[in-house]
Amino acid sequence: MHNTIGVIGLGVMGSNIALNMASKGEQVAVYNYTRDLTDKLVEKIEGQSLHPYYEIQEFVQSLEVPRKIFLMVTAGKPIDSVISALVPHLEARDIIMDGGNSHYEDTERRYEELKSQGIGYLGIGISGGEVGALNGPSIMPGGDQDVYNKVAPILTKIAAQVDNDPCCAYMGPKGSGHFVKMVHNGIEYADMQLIAEAYTFLRKRLDLSVDEIADIFETWNQGELKSYLIEITAEILRKKDEITGLPLIDVILDKTGQKGTGKWTSMQAIDNGIPSSIITESLFARYISSLKEERVHAESILTGPEMDQPTLDKDLWMEYIRQALYMGKICAYAQGFTQYKMTSELYGWDLPLKDIALIFRGGCIIRAEFLNVISETYQSQPNLANLLVAPYFAEKIKAYQIGLRKVLCEGINSGISSPCLSSSLTYYDNYRTGMSNANLLQAQRDYFGAHTYERSDLAGIFHTNWQ
Ligand code: 6PG
Repeated sequence: MHNTIGVIGLGVMGSNIALNMASKGEQVAVYNYTRDLTDKLVEKIEGQSLHPYYEIQEFVQSLEVPRKIFLMVTAGKPIDSVISALVPHLEARDIIMDGGNSHYEDTERRYEELKSQGIGYLGIGISGGEVGALNGPSIMPGGDQDVYNKVAPILTKIAAQVDNDPCCAYMGPKGSGHFVKMVHNGIEYADMQLIAEAYTFLRKRLDLSVDEIADIFETWNQGELKSYLIEITAEILRKKDEITGLPLIDVILDKTGQKGTGKWTSMQAIDNGIPSSIITESLFARYISSLKEERVHAESILTGPEMDQPTLDKDLWMEYIRQALYMGKICAYAQGFTQYKMTSELYGWDLPLKDIALIFRGGCIIRAEFLNVISETYQSQPNLANLLVAPYFAEKIKAYQIGLRKVLCEGINSGISSPCLSSSLTYYDNYRTGMSNANLLQAQRDYFGAHTYERSDLAGIFHTNWQ
């Protein structure tokens, strides 16, 4: 019994997490259900801090009590299978952590089942891809606070560090850690799509080359848009294809895949009356992208606007696009954080919005300069209804909405689709409208279905005999 932690599942993410733990001084037991990945990992490393096991019982017996076991296994049934194989060898107070992209409801089920056997269970959102797993991801643990406290020293050590603070914080009970990761991915989908739409406008409407656009993204990455996704976009656009010599981006098939977390974010929002429309629009953009053959066929039949396109002043429009992207990003993050807030209230989780923004500053895919401002905002206004009304963002939007409006009008007139940018403006204009048209909808519902309505001037429930 000499190992301080065990890792099960030695794909790239699991191997890198294990290497990360070993590099921070942990004695790490590693196990994979097929031997090859274990051998591959152990071959790679020097030193004594990673210890391979080929039988689950021996793996478990090698761990200090209470045992701490980190699962980096494909989400879904494989997690249940590993838990079933592990449990007969465990004792009360041992701890299992699931570091995969599990659905938070699955995590809640597993949490309850294991709790009834005295075993601690933490659902741990991890973001940062392969490199993050190795060098320091953003870590979002959820479960019982006392169970988290036992593993906090290890988790905070392996997390990314920003300004000497670990990008790891306790998120709340049960499935809240995986929930936070799920919505992180929804925001990630929206952010990626917004960037793609800015790129499209620069390419199609300003007629800039891929290299020129890479320059623009590099410049943007030195200002308030500074973020991992902007940075990698510049690098992606620089990359040349080894076969054709063309920019690699031009030979990549325009069909986006997805593993489900963005879809879960939208489904949870829809189920609970949360208006995460930008995230959902980014999901639908992926779905439409997958209809490649149909789109190619449609292009030969369907026309766009026929009008002379004026030459645009490039510097002015580059600034409009930057403003549009920044405002779109504010709206998307506002929706994501609203989803945290509303769900937290619904489930009684008390999600720490300030800490979520703090741990997203490093390690994760959506790390961005402006998360500092989001965190400061929630620190001073923990009960803020929506980031849009925070003074910093309200001022930014006041200055930048011109850019977003210009880009969208120009895009509409030239037939360039910008689903997430336009969804951002729609959300913004809806949210800032004190008197909406929902009164008409209520009247229609009451007219054809006697669904009743409330009045703005009198209390009570009303029905009118419309005919
Ligand atoms: C992260 C990423 C990671 C993964 C996504 C990709 O935070 O490290 O979000 O979890 O890259 O699952 O999601 P899609 O395949 O759905 O785009």
